[in-house]
Parts: sequence; structure tokens; C-alpha cells
Amino acid sequence: MKVLVFIYFFGIFLISQNKCARILCVFQMPAVSHQATFKPISRTLSLRGHKVVAVTPHPINDSNLTNLTEIDTSKETYEIIFRHGFEFFMSKEDPVHHKIPKIFAMYDEFAHAILNNSQFKKICNDPNQKFDLIISQIYVSPIMFALGAKLKAPIVGVSSMGGWQGTHIAAGNPNPPALYSEMFLPYNGELTFYERLKSTLYFIWSRLYVYWVAMPRCDKIAKQYLGEDLPYLADLERNVSAIFLNINPILYTPRPMVPTVIPMSFMHIQKPKPLPEDIREIIETAKNGVIYFSLGSNVKSVNIPQRIRGLLMEAFAELPYKVLWKFEKEELPGKPDNVVIRKWLPQQDILAHPNIKAFISQCGLQSTEEAIDREMPMVGIPFIADQEMNSVRLAKWGVLRHVDYLNTTKEELVRTIKDVAENPSYRSNMKNLRALLQDEPMTSLDRVTWWAEYVIRHRGTRHLRSPTIDIEWHKYLLLDVFVVLIGVPALLLLLIFRFVFGKKSIKMKKE
Ligand SMILES: *[C@@H]1O[C@H](CO)[C@@H](O)[C@H](O)[C@H]1NC(C)=O
Ligand SMILES: *[C@@H]1O[C@H](CO)[C@@H](O)[C@H](O)[C@H]1NC(C)=O
Repeated sequence: MKVLVFIYFFGIFLISQNKCARILCVFQMPAVSHQATFKPISRTLSLRGHKVVAVTPHPINDSNLTNLTEIDTSKETYEIIFRHGFEFFMSKEDPVHHKIPKIFAMYDEFAHAILNNSQFKKICNDPNQKFDLIISQIYVSPIMFALGAKLKAPIVGVSSMGGWQGTHIAAGNPNPPALYSEMFLPYNGELTFYERLKSTLYFIWSRLYVYWVAMPRCDKIAKQYLGEDLPYLADLERNVSAIFLNINPILYTPRPMVPTVIPMSFMHIQKPKPLPEDIREIIETAKNGVIYFSLGSNVKSVNIPQRIRGLLMEAFAELPYKVLWKFEKEELPGKPDNVVIRKWLPQQDILAHPNIKAFISQCGLQSTEEAIDREMPMVGIPFIADQEMNSVRLAKWGVLRHVDYLNTTKEELVRTIKDVAENPSYRSNMKNLRALLQDEPMTSLDRVTWWAEYVIRHRGTRHLRSPTIDIEWHKYLLLDVFVVLIGVPALLLLLIFRFVFGKKSIKMKKE
């Protein structure tokens, strides 16, 4: 009996241990769309009774979340992203080996800004602040992973998109360039010879760039703020306990992954809410339906080239529909009569309205997920980052028509928009795609919450470490084995030849 009582209380003790964990979240990237993926994580963990400290440029600011403390870094991080002109250097014309160094440079500055933040410094340098888990955004730069070593807590990486190549390699995912390239190279399915060549060159370049340039610089920044005695940053990156990636294997090419890389999707989707009265009226008084047009929070309609904006307006004027356009200024000179502009619109709720006929989008991942969840057919006009790849892939699913903004014409735009709005196949393909994507045993939010608590319970995932992380590259590529497999027979052949021809020549000499 006593033993049972002991086991009972010990069990409660264990459960409450798990319940009262302290978690530090660091989400660097100042962008609405990225943070929309991260917010549900810090929010949910706090609601489960964990004490969460979140460093973020987009605090939730909800006083009901009593277990969530937020450190607002919007001022310093937005200043950086505006200075770098993120939306311009990420444009699809810029080659990938230009983008990666620029992203590294930007994340270096994010690291300086965050590690210099006085509120954050206080937490980092307070020996009484003990954390059971650190969750850090990972895209390209692993600097924040040094927090794991500094604060002696297991660390989990999270990305609002897929991982970049370096993240997959650090996690131990196989990464053959013949099949998996960078997300900025919109290769899909089987690569052509030229694509494999480019993908291989990129692979070699990026490995050398990280090894010789980026990693030593990141390591220096980490050590500058968190202590010279830290292990080398590349080793810390390989020590990450889990990585949550926004990659749905149906939208991205399926790939082999180690058990600690956890896919997630639809993290930010909420149930449709009633629309504001004026928006509802605009939508419901449109006799032939409404086209919803937004380029998201990173590209922004005010930033796109004048030529394409002019083309879009000319095309819209010829449509029989109303167009609801998220345009970030008060005035749009030359705006056609059937176009309504608003600086901000509740996109998820608008896409749920049955009178919306199509969604013209830049195809950012979060917008794409919203369209899929609401079964809304799309016209894709990608500009930056992963948008091109998303658009190309959705076109293959028959749920979207892809427009290349560099070469499009007014006629093509009108034809494409009308086709997507009127042809029912896009909507029915969207319905099928949604059914496929959301057929899962648990929601992504439940899955990543479980994994976060799993890492807390077991103080990391050392027991799941894949040997692909630690093997040296020449062994992984079996170079030593091939040397033996090819070298030994070659040596034997050589000996036999010498033996046979050697004898002959002796014979010949004798004769
Ligand atoms: C805060 O955490 C405690 C346990 O640590 C829990 O009982 C409570 O419900 C949490 N409150 C909120 C609002 O999340
Ligand atoms: C990686 O983690 C293990 C155990 O969690 C630890 O013993 C080791 O020192 C870590 N390596 C580095 C480079 O921090």
C-alpha cells in the first residue's frame, strides 16, 4: 500500500515537473507571416502551464496569458530589415548564392540586436534564471543555438518555412543535390541535367561558404555575447534536440528525415470569424462575385514595380467582378471603379466567404495555407523567397494558375483570372488537396507541443541522434570503400597483365 501511495505521489510529482517547465522562445524575424507560425507555439505552451519567456518582434500582448512574458524587439529588428531592403534582395531574379550571404548578414544583425537587448541580457546573465527548454527560430544562422550551451538547456529549432540546406545537414537529413536543392531554386520532381549541375555547384559552394566564412563569423558573435568558453557553434548546431519545419511533404518534395525533424503546417489557421460590417457589405453586394487580391505583408502592393501595378489595374478594369485589394496606402491613382482598396483586411475570414471567386496571391507559405484551408482557387504572382516554388507546385496540383510578372500582359491576366474564377476544376482540386493535406492523426500544434514537452521530459534527444550527423563526409560517400573496391581489382589486373606479358617477353627473348 505504502509503495502504491509513493508511486502515486511520485507520478504526480513527475507530471507536475513537466507542467511547470520554464521555456525561453527566441523568434528573430520581424515579419507578420513568420511570426504567425510561432505565436501559437508560445501561446499554447503557456496555456499548458509552462512559464514561457518569448523574445519576439510581434508580442501577442494578451493579458489573459498570465504564464507568458514577452520581450518586444520590434524596434531594433524592424530597423534592420528595412535597412537591408529584404523584399528587394529576395526577389526571384537575384541568384541564390547572392541571397544566402545577405540572409546571413541580416541574421548577424538580428543577433547583435537581440543579444544586446537590455531586458534579454538581464535574463541571459542571471544565474537564477533556469530554463528547461529553449525554442529558437532557425533560418540559415545558428547563432541563437549557443543559448542552449550558455543556459544549459536543450534547444529546439523552429522555422516558418522549410529548412535551408545547412539545417537539414546539421540535423542529419540526407541531402543529395540530385534530389533536394535549396528552396530558392524552384526545382521540382526529377531534376534535369542542367538543374542537377546547378544544384551540385550550389551544394559545394554553400558547404564551403558556411565552413570558411559564415560559421566562423556566427561563432564569433555568439562568443562575444555569451562567453568565449562556449563550444564551436557548428557543434552546437549539430546538438539541437529537435527541429520543427513548416514542410508538408505533399506541398514540398517528400524527403527522408531523421526522427527529430518534425513537420508542421497550418499552424496559424483559425476558425472563420464574422467579417467587419463594411467588408461584408462590399463582398455581398457584388453581383458577379469578388476577386480578393493581396501580396502579403513582406512584398506589399505599394512596393511592386509600377509597370506590373499598372497592368493589374488595367486588367482589373476589364473584369466583371469586384476586386478587393489589400493596398497599403490611402490613395491609388487611376483606381478602376470595380476595385476597392483597404490597408488591411482579415484575410482568413475573407477567404472563407462564399462570394469570393479567386485569390490573387504572391504565394507566401502562410497565404497559401489559408487558401488551401478555405478551398479557394488561386492566381499566383510570386516575387520573392519561396513564393516561386510554392506557386509552381500548386499549379501542378491544378489549384492555381501561375503568372510570371516579368513577362505577363494585360490579356493574359484577364484570361487567367477569369479562368480561375469560372472553371470549377480549380475549386474541386483545392477541395481534394485540402482533404489530403489535413488527413493527419493530430494537428501540427498538438504534435509540436508534444515534442517540446518530450524534449523537456528527457532533457534532450541524445538517444535519437542519427549517425548521419557525425559521420565524416568521405565515409558517408564511401570514398574509402570505393578506393578499395576499384583499387584492389585494378591492382590485381595490373599484376596479371605484367605476369602474362612479362612471361611472353621472356619467351620472345629466348626465341
Ligand atoms: C499558468 O500556469 C499554471 C500552472 O503553472 C496553470 O495552473 C494556469 O492555468 C496557467 N494559466 C494560464 C492563463 O495559462
Ligand atoms: C552535446 O550534447 C551532449 C549531451 O546533451 C553534451 O554532452 C555535449 O557536450 C554537447 N556538445 C557540445 C559541442 O555542446
